[in-house]
Amino acid sequence: PRVIATKITENLNVADFCEPPSIAGPGFINFKLKSDYLEQQLTEMHGSDRLGIATANPPKQVIVDYPSPNIAKEMHVGHLRPAVIGECFARVLEFLGHDVLKLSHVGDWGTPFGMLIAYLQEAYPDPKDAAEASMSGNLATFYRQAKKRFDADETFKENARQAVVKLQAGDKEVLEAWERVCQLSKRSYRKIYDLLNIAEDIVDRGESFYNPFLPAIVEDLDKAGLLVEDDGAKCVFLEGFNNKDDDPLPMIVHKPNGGYNYATTDLAAIRYRINEDKAERIVYTTDAGQSNHFAQFFQVARRAGWVPETVELSYAPFGLVLGENGKRLKSRSGEAVPLQALLDEAIARTRLDIEARLEKEERTESDDFIQTAAEKVGIGAVKYADLSQNRVSDYTFSFDRMLDLKGNTAPYMLYAYVRVQGISRSGGIDFSQLDTTVKLTEESEVTLAKYLLQMDVVLDEVSAALLPIRLCQYLFELSQKFNQFYDRCPVLKAEEPARTSRLVLCDLTARTLKLGLSLLGIDVLERM
Ligand code: ARG
Repeated sequence: PRVIATKITENLNVADFCEPPSIAGPGFINFKLKSDYLEQQLTEMHGSDRLGIATANPPKQVIVDYPSPNIAKEMHVGHLRPAVIGECFARVLEFLGHDVLKLSHVGDWGTPFGMLIAYLQEAYPDPKDAAEASMSGNLATFYRQAKKRFDADETFKENARQAVVKLQAGDKEVLEAWERVCQLSKRSYRKIYDLLNIAEDIVDRGESFYNPFLPAIVEDLDKAGLLVEDDGAKCVFLEGFNNKDDDPLPMIVHKPNGGYNYATTDLAAIRYRINEDKAERIVYTTDAGQSNHFAQFFQVARRAGWVPETVELSYAPFGLVLGENGKRLKSRSGEAVPLQALLDEAIARTRLDIEARLEKEERTESDDFIQTAAEKVGIGAVKYADLSQNRVSDYTFSFDRMLDLKGNTAPYMLYAYVRVQGISRSGGIDFSQLDTTVKLTEESEVTLAKYLLQMDVVLDEVSAALLPIRLCQYLFELSQKFNQFYDRCPVLKAEEPARTSRLVLCDLTARTLKLGLSLLGIDVLERM
């Protein structure tokens, strides 16, 4: 190995950025970045409003399939992960220069609507009333009451059934009622999205959008020779998915009663996204329970020839949110915890933490300051706790852990940012006016410098593998490297030129943290 290592180093041309490589032990090759290379890179980074991070070349037309709750159900803890993770993907891809279309594939069609429409028509016959009902945001109550009527009254049940038939036949009045139910839900989702800092330019393109394209899906699968009739259902037999008896599993696209299903709709959606939206990459994220669904309809779409080689289909499954008992997170009454309640609690707890800290530091702040900080830190903590997990595993939801100022948490990261801002405040420094000559002398400066320069690689990884955890880990380690540097190297008290150079390192750290957190969907605060 040593001989090979020698040959390699003889033929390597790294002189632009490395000291001559040395060979160690049985044949390891050690590289040491040149200080002046690091200094020059940092100087460029400092002068760039993108921190020197290049945009993708060529940029792609990307679709991110956004959190897509089913209409009229109140958002619960199960909707947290798709919202938080989908938002992070969209932000990273957008920052890298891709053209991102955010589509919400809401479940806005099918039998449950009969019940809701029948109830809306009965309880709020006047459209204005319906608007009022939604304004109070009581989507959950609406659903519960409709369900109660449905379970208790045979006539109501029949009305609901009729409503579905009429809906599918395109009855104008029923369509209008359906539209009102959808609007009501979307307004209530938006309230939560706003709280979660979720993009405002999500395009609502629910399942119903694809209704007109469903018959052609079945016809074209038939033309492609993939369609098989089985027990009255039209289906495609899958490759690599077998039942207990080792026979291939069918994917049903047209039910015996003539209805289409979730899979048919996703096939129509993928075709539309590729042909009409010109998507070159489609990113989906759902709970891992839907993994088979995605593998299956991807396979069928590919075998039907609807997915050109140039189009990348990315599926990013995620695990469940568990309570501290290790089971799916539930409220005391055994239901899924409403998302609003969960977020309210995060904010309330953060507020208590902030108040306690202010008291300890003998600081007084306005109520407005405390509340704003509590909202930003509390929501940030919930999001960070999610994104910093291995996406595919289940994770345990713990307020105590996610609000801990000392762990790998949003409060820790936000605090690191605030700490740097504190330096500029106490020294009366305007970071943007700094002369940008960086000089690295101490070991901890070099270490920090090397970390600062890795953000672009990290973002490429997040974009390729769709793993937000990489960005979280990077930001966490960066804050640690910063803290080590700050403990060892005086900044404001240092002599020039070290003083300015170190201030630049502080500024670069703060800007990297701010950018990284914003790509996670978390806003920084200037003070905390
Ligand atoms: N509405 C679905 C659900 O609540 C999620 C949709 C995911 N996207 C998709 N294209 N199938 O489970």
